Amino acid sequence: MSPNSSAAPPPPGLIRRLQVGDGEIVVEEQGTGDPLLLVHGFPFDRRMWRGQIGAFPGLRLLRPDLRGHGESEAQPPPYTLVDLAEDLRQILDHLAIERVLLGGLSMGGYIALAFAGRYPERLQALLLLDTHPKADPPEVRSGRAETAARARREGVPKLADELTERFVGGRTMDPEVVALIRQMILDTSVEGMVGSLTAMAARPDSTPILPTITCPTLVIVGTEDNITPPAMAREMRAAIPNAELVEIPGAGHLAPLEAPAPVNAAIAAFLRAHGLGPGRPHPA
Ligand code: MLT
Repeated sequence: MSPNSSAAPPPPGLIRRLQVGDGEIVVEEQGTGDPLLLVHGFPFDRRMWRGQIGAFPGLRLLRPDLRGHGESEAQPPPYTLVDLAEDLRQILDHLAIERVLLGGLSMGGYIALAFAGRYPERLQALLLLDTHPKADPPEVRSGRAETAARARREGVPKLADELTERFVGGRTMDPEVVALIRQMILDTSVEGMVGSLTAMAARPDSTPILPTITCPTLVIVGTEDNITPPAMAREMRAAIPNAELVEIPGAGHLAPLEAPAPVNAAIAAFLRAHGLGPGRPHPA
């Protein structure tokens, strides 16, 4: 779909293995400057953000694998969104980062909103991609319980095809992107999958947090996102005082992976407009 979605894999960054709570969390780091922490969705890992590597010169890009996802150690489920937001806080503390540009996609956005509610003073800006603030309706909650039970009973590989299809949604997508989506699903541990499903199912409505967000906020959504569609993004943008919205034509639920060029352009323009990142005047 995008000109650079099939590009050769980017060179590896600095791999940090941080002791976070009772487990080891892997964070990959590229570049120097103000920190940009990007939090992946479910059931993915930091490779979801490969199209953002090298896109923001003058920023320090930090991509964690959430607990139980990618290369990070799993911890026994259930998890809560607060656990996952606290993992982010501990990552920042380990790296002695006081304030961060925080971005999250879908479940990563749910976590970013939970973080925003707890630690507003640590946010320089917020990027909310293909996400929304609402709690799960009952039928979604019971669907998650069923998926978690099947992951335990049948193992993750048995779920890979249907989970992949959830993100492809009958659209024509770059086969290499589809293969990566499937691989990230396969590389999610049963514990990570069950833990994240329980965290999402139990999450409270974050709508009350939205009007309290004071940092510059960019909402991004793919026009073809059928999981967290543009109408939800528009509603969320309207509820955040200092937010803007960019819709990415033709992209689905994984806009930064499917269409990195327009997503990166939107983020770069947002940072420039707010004097953030490279070029930000540093205190004397
Ligand atoms: C995600 O991409 O993180 C999931 O689609 C979120 C969800 O299932 O609500």
